[in-house]
Order: sequence, then C-alpha cells, then structure tokens
Amino acid sequence: MKILVTGRDGMLGSALMNRLATGVDGGAAPVAVGLDLPDGDLTDAAVAAELVKRHAPDWIIHCAAWTDVDGAETSFERALAANGAATAHLAAACRTAGCGLTYISTDYVFDGRGRGGDAAAGYDEDDPKAPVNRYGQTKAAGEDHVRVLETPWQIVRTSWLFGDGRVNFVKTIRRLLQERESLQVVDDQRGCPTYADDLADVLVRLVSGRHRGIFHATNRGDCTWFDLARETAVACETSPERIRPCTSEQYPRPASRPACSILRSRRLEEAGCPPRPAWQDAVGRYVALLESGRVTHP
Ligand SMILES: NC(=O)c1ccc[n+]([C@@H]2O[C@H](COP(=O)([O-])OP(=O)(O)OC[C@H]3O[C@@H](n4cnc5c(N)ncnc54)[C@H](OP(=O)(O)O)[C@@H]3O)[C@@H](O)[C@H]2O)c1
Repeated sequence: MKILVTGRDGMLGSALMNRLATGVDGGAAPVAVGLDLPDGDLTDAAVAAELVKRHAPDWIIHCAAWTDVDGAETSFERALAANGAATAHLAAACRTAGCGLTYISTDYVFDGRGRGGDAAAGYDEDDPKAPVNRYGQTKAAGEDHVRVLETPWQIVRTSWLFGDGRVNFVKTIRRLLQERESLQVVDDQRGCPTYADDLADVLVRLVSGRHRGIFHATNRGDCTWFDLARETAVACETSPERIRPCTSEQYPRPASRPACSILRSRRLEEAGCPPRPAWQDAVGRYVALLESGRVTHP
C-alpha cells in the first residue's frame, strides 16, 4: 500500500511518518510519501491534482491544515482555503485516481455544549455539526467535501492534540513552569487530550483496515485544561499546586472555546481498534520524550 501524508512537517504528520516507517501489525512498512508546503500549496487545485497524479498513492492521509484557531477569526478566507478548498481539491484528485482519503477533523465542528445540552454526554460520531467558531466552520467545510466521495473515505475527529511540534499546550505549560512560580489555567472547559503518536497508531490501523466513515480518536478519558496542566506538572516532577484554576471569562480569547468537547469513540471499537492509552499515560510519555531531548521541536 502506498500512502501519501500531507502536513508531513506538522505535529501529527511527523508522528504519522515515524509510525508508518515501523510497519503495520508486524508486517512490512507501507510506502509512505510525505508532502508539506514547500512541495506545493494544496489550496491550488492544479498543484493538488499534479501532486496526487505524480505520487499515485492508494490512500491519502490529509493532516495539512490551517491550525491557528484564533487567527481563523480574522483571516477566515485564508483558513477556509486551507481547510475547505484544499480538502476539496484532494477529494477531487482522489475521485480521479480512485484512491482513499482520510481527513483529520476536530471537536470544534460541534457547538461545545454537549449532545442535547448535556455537557457530560459529549459527542458521538453522528451528532449534528454546529461549529463553535470560525476555525470549526472551516474544518466542517472540509468534512463536507470528503463525505460525498464515492471512493473510500474516513473523517477522523480528534482534540487537544500534543506531541513533537512547534506549539502545544503540554509543552507550553512545561516551559511556563520553568519560568514562573505559579500559573492560572481554565477549569471550565472539558475535552479529551490526544498524543499525536497514539493518534498515528489509530490512523495506521484505520487505513490498513480500509475502514469507512466518521471516527472519533483521542486518548482515553477526559479532563479540563486545568487537570491537564496539573498532570503536566506531575510529569515534570514539580508540585501540581503551582497550577491554580480560573474561568474562561478570566482568560478571554478571540475565538470561542467549547465548554464541552468530549469526543465519544464508539466507531473505533466497532472497527476493532484496541482501547487507547489513558491521557495521563500519554502526558507522561511525551514529557519524558521532551526531557530526553530526542525531539525535533524541544
Ligand atoms: N492541534 C490540535 O490541537 C488539533 C486538534 C484537533 C484537530 N486537529 C487537526 O489535526 C490535523 C493536524 O494538526 P497539527 O496540529 O499536526 O497541524 P500543524 O502542526 O499546524 O501542521 C499542519 C501542516 O500543514 C501545512 N500546511 C498548511 N497549509 C497548507 C497548504 N495550503 N498546503 C500544504 N500544506 C499546508 C503546514 O505548513 P506551515 O506550518 O508551513 O503553514 C504544517 O506543516 C489538522 O487537520 C488539524 O485541523 C488539530
């Protein structure tokens, strides 16, 4: 199987390239080709078509995206081009080439209140989309271009991603703990942290099994940002008491953030994916990796 990974240099794309290099279920590693902006801008239809034609993959895992959530509020057209139009171009190229497409999406396609207003319920794969902010609108637009494909497709929604990349919450908290005595972190937004390495494992399983449809893929369990910050402190072997809770009102951001973005993942179990590691375990592994210095983005 030949797999084309877009967003190769990003947080998820690089974890996925590493994971693909190790093989699938003890078998031989698939042929994996990674692409990123220096290879071509996917918002250009001709560029996207030419790249797919040139590499002739059996499957595309589309990790490239505009991921600046607050920036999407002010640069909506550019964000929509990167997340909507680029995905439409790849979907068209998949239709022509007859290859499969996996699109990575987000919890922000939901309204942030939980199914039927029940925050504890979170969201199932089939719950109606109602994007909580403009970034969510652009990602929902990307989903709409994928789900009409006749060739095999997957939409894999994830949330609160961290891993070896330029910026992520766990890395930021670790740095701030080195710079400041105490920190305030919001305690009224609940979601599911996801380690890029663990998501890469799920993606390889889904693609090698050629499963179809919408999936929710995160680490096991849910928490608030405050809980995640405290767990990061524990992993960094410092006192979690240095982290204090605050409200979203005390920490305003340009884009609205969901109070509830818990993704329930029934379909992954149906597809035979083993339970994901707990989010606390994932934080421990990532912080250990950062401390080892064996990262591209320290
Ligand atoms: N990060 C999260 O917390 C989170 C949560 C839920 C879902 N997701 C989704 O997960 C996926 C991976 O996210 P990530 O955090 O790994 O992203 P990332 O680190 O920002 O990487 C995205 C990559 O895509 C490239 N790219 C952007 N626009 C492009 C274009 N027009 N043509 C070609 N390449 C382009 C970027 O290049 P430049 O850096 O040079 O722009 C970057 O290398 C995305 O679909 C994202 O929406 C992320």
